[in-house]
Amino acid sequence: MVLGIETSCDETAAAVVRDGHLVLGETVATQIEVHRKWGGVVPELASRNHVVDIVPVVREALSAAGLGFADLDAIAVTRGPGLVGALLVGLQVAKALAYAHDKPLVPVHHLAGHLHAVALHRADEPAPPAPAQPFVALAVSGGHTALYHVEGERVVQVSNTRDDAAGEAFDKVARMLGLGYPGGPVVERLARGGDPTAHRFTLPRFKDGAADFSFSGLKTAVLTIVKRAEALPEGQALKDLLASFQFAAVTQLVDRTLKMVETHQVTDVVLAGGVACNGVLRTRLAEGLAARSGRLHVPPPHWCTDNAAMIAAAADAEASRRQGSGHDPADRRLNAVGAWPLGA
Ligand code: KG4
Ligand code: ZN
Repeated sequence: MVLGIETSCDETAAAVVRDGHLVLGETVATQIEVHRKWGGVVPELASRNHVVDIVPVVREALSAAGLGFADLDAIAVTRGPGLVGALLVGLQVAKALAYAHDKPLVPVHHLAGHLHAVALHRADEPAPPAPAQPFVALAVSGGHTALYHVEGERVVQVSNTRDDAAGEAFDKVARMLGLGYPGGPVVERLARGGDPTAHRFTLPRFKDGAADFSFSGLKTAVLTIVKRAEALPEGQALKDLLASFQFAAVTQLVDRTLKMVETHQVTDVVLAGGVACNGVLRTRLAEGLAARSGRLHVPPPHWCTDNAAMIAAAADAEASRRQGSGHDPADRRLNAVGAWPLGA
């Protein structure tokens, strides 16, 4: 029985998860409205709002689960990567609770959390099927776009973005078109009525043939179209531009992922992170894998974006991984880390 706490960005979240998959109670307090008028996350505002929200959020998650601190076996918390000031709020609260209630404290890597979200379900839902091992995982969010080869607890990064993250590209494109923050959901909604072939954007290629990602060229290509026009595109022109942008972004994600599936001779793919909410990405990746007799594993949208159930779900694997590498999971001097590669 693990209490998970997540405050790495603009969501204050707590959840109680049993056996690494069964979600007994959870709360996510989003700060989207706080940051919207600034067009992106303001780190100082994020930290201050975490301070206000964290205690009620933890209480609510426990009460939704019908449990008290005495029922917990451990407290798991996101240690990084993320905004350091934001991370510190969750980390300090988790350390205080672990100390006060004499529970082990498990520091969790935020992306390891995202990858564990595929196991989550509620009591009235069947457990989702486990991916066939080894598998390839695509973590795609506002801060990360990376592919991993996963075998048991061994996670090796096999591809990364060379510039922007995919979610960042959705957010920046939405911002330049005056569509607000976060960009992904509004871009997906407007793109539904657009023609994805209206603009053709080229897929980035690297001389060394690496299956790395790059989204800054795509963002600049959209910006060039916007600047050339006399006014911001509206109506059908806006929908066509967004559908074409989304098509190009998704094509790149699917292309690189399927390349890694072939390179590593795996069948299954785990898709996670906020951009995994995107319906076009989910459908096209699932189709690409089905054509190769493979299978896509992706959480429902509410567990793709930041949440604490995924952090609690990752606790077991993270605890044994860190013990294996000589870290003490109960170390109460633990600090937050802003930049922290997964699989290092
Ligand atoms: O995982 P997440 O909640 O936070 C990070 O760890 O970054 O991901 C947030 C990102 C944002 O960039 C947001 O625009 C993007 O996920 N996102 C989407 C969609 N929903 C959220 N991107 C594309 N399509 C969506 N439907
Ligand atoms: Zn995230």
